Amino acid sequence: MNYLFSRNKINIDTEIHCHILPTVGCDPEFTNQALGVLKTFQYYGVNTVYVTPHVRLTRPSNTHKSILERAEVFKKQITENKIKIKLEVVAEYYVDEGLSSLIDNELLLTYPQSHVLIELPMRFKPDNLDEIIKKLLAKGYTPIIAHPELHHYLRYDWKMIVDLKNQGCLFQLNLINMAGYFGEDVVAAAENLLRSKIYDLVGTGAHSREQLRLINEQILQNKNFIILLRNTNFKNKMFSKSEQNER
Ligand SMILES: [Fe+2]
Repeated sequence: MNYLFSRNKINIDTEIHCHILPTVGCDPEFTNQALGVLKTFQYYGVNTVYVTPHVRLTRPSNTHKSILERAEVFKKQITENKIKIKLEVVAEYYVDEGLSSLIDNELLLTYPQSHVLIELPMRFKPDNLDEIIKKLLAKGYTPIIAHPELHHYLRYDWKMIVDLKNQGCLFQLNLINMAGYFGEDVVAAAENLLRSKIYDLVGTGAHSREQLRLINEQILQNKNFIILLRNTNFKNKMFSKSEQNER
């Protein structure tokens, strides 16, 4: 079968990073789009999809409670549409001044075994990064650093990458970035990080069916990318909620 997630390509059955959770009362077209993304994942053979809405001070409407409420509504819509995807909800936590108190109050939506997705600022290393990482680890969380390929100050700083890895952080690739969505410098950085075996997990980072199609087409066209992706031991399976895994 000629799509990226299939067994003869990268063989991933769990999507761990996408932005498709509708807001309550949103334009029905957005919900239709989101259901369309899930249908595409189902067609690709993916069985579990984690939605990862952004939590950050500049998005006050995305709270622990509101995200869970939105997920309940969306799960009903998924069932009504007979889509056979297990929807899971976590969040992508931006490292800002608000994150520390969320950790203190244990208000984090996490993957299994307390893995938590965090997003760093694009252009500068946050002053509180070390404090946040230490606090997460001390509370028993495993930080997953989202899309390091995007971050100018991180993607070629091997000392910083190794230091974060040694502390216990995992790194997650966004396939939309390999598809050229944010430019060639990001593609080159992702390729370099893949070659250096930095990544532990892979997600799409997709917001729409169109982006999924772009990912599939662009990456399948590039044999080197396929080889690099196949040669990386992504650990997405540990978050799979397939029936086989639940036994
Ligand atoms: Fe994201």
